Amino acid sequence: MPAKKLMRAVQYDGYGGGAAALKVNPECRSEVKKDVGFGAVTGGCRLENLRRVGRVRVFENIRRRTGKLYSSSVKFLISLLRLFVNMFFVGPAMDVTGEVIEVGTGVKNLKAGDKVVTTLGPHAAGGLAEYVVAKESLTAARPPEVSAAAAAGLPVAGLTAHQALTDSAGIKLDGSGKQVNVLVTAASGGVGHYAVQLAKLGNTHVTATCGARNLDFVKRLGADEVLDYKTPDGAALKSPSGIKYDFVIHCASGIPWSTFEPNLSEKGKVIDITPTSRALLACAAKMLTLSKKQLVPLLLIPKREKLNFLVNLVKEGKLKTVIDSKHLLSEAEDAWAKIIEGHATGKIIVEP
Ligand SMILES: NC(=O)c1ccc[n+]([C@@H]2O[C@H](COP(=O)([O-])OP(=O)(O)OC[C@H]3O[C@@H](n4cnc5c(N)ncnc54)[C@H](OP(=O)(O)O)[C@@H]3O)[C@@H](O)[C@H]2O)c1
Repeated sequence: MPAKKLMRAVQYDGYGGGAAALKVNPECRSEVKKDVGFGAVTGGCRLENLRRVGRVRVFENIRRRTGKLYSSSVKFLISLLRLFVNMFFVGPAMDVTGEVIEVGTGVKNLKAGDKVVTTLGPHAAGGLAEYVVAKESLTAARPPEVSAAAAAGLPVAGLTAHQALTDSAGIKLDGSGKQVNVLVTAASGGVGHYAVQLAKLGNTHVTATCGARNLDFVKRLGADEVLDYKTPDGAALKSPSGIKYDFVIHCASGIPWSTFEPNLSEKGKVIDITPTSRALLACAAKMLTLSKKQLVPLLLIPKREKLNFLVNLVKEGKLKTVIDSKHLLSEAEDAWAKIIEGHATGKIIVEP
């Protein structure tokens, strides 16, 4: 089935409007390209899930206003404006599951009809739509045992947790490494709930922080001890059993280095997935002073092999996506508002 020329997509209607600026555009142009460069592209994915953004609509609005005035100078101006607008109107949704509709010439391992999960990248984004164009290099097959919603939660959150634990902390997820103590902050959130489960596949003792309402939930994920972040000990990140952390997978925000420092083992490392400018300064200071305790900012570099690994874990029942709530595409504004509030337990999913 070829992708439709026009599709429903959720797009920003203006700049700086938060969730309320997201609107459903029923006439968004679907941008399926057959030949999109080297190694790329699974035509378009029909979504069982998620997202698209404001760039196209903004451009179409400009077109409507300029009517049929396609002189070359207007075209040139529009191209410039489009470039400018594209720089700012980035969509809120990157993770998508769906079915491959068409593949480009460089695609080797996917074909029309395949069920897949993919991530679009922060600059392309735009997953809140009926169709998206995705890179083969960031797309994994979704087996029937893994639901569309469970797969949709995985890419950015699961890969961030995986990268922090394996690449940054060096933890072996087959349990073969030496035992280490890990603290996961905001363990009830999208990244945190995957981080706890993945950490427990390694040889780890896991301490986790979350709100009071999620203490049991995080224990059920496998954490060995759980701290309510609103209590004095929780705010101080003090382990109830008195251990020092070898690694902190830091998914919350606003915790200063001075809070981490006394809780770290001699060579303890804070892997910060929400680094602020203060954190970056702390990181530079630790490096300059050759401190054994380190703060390491993390930026996700998504990889298909790792996404395949996570999908397989879900298939084998070793990892689960906990779903906070599901929303229809027409209610994407509510979903986005909930994400911005920062009180999700697990992942928020949007469905057509
Ligand atoms: N570096 C990267 O490449 C990368 C990749 C992905 C995500 N991120 C960032 O990582 C952060 C976490 O993302 P997320 O999607 O996992 O967040 P999230 O799902 O919004 O996390 C919400 C959860 O965190 C809990 N929480 C909030 N503040 C807390 C605190 N101080 N201590 C303990 N728990 C706390 C909340 O509990 P209550 O409701 O009880 O308050 C809620 O359950 C975001 O800032 C995101 O932008 C970075």
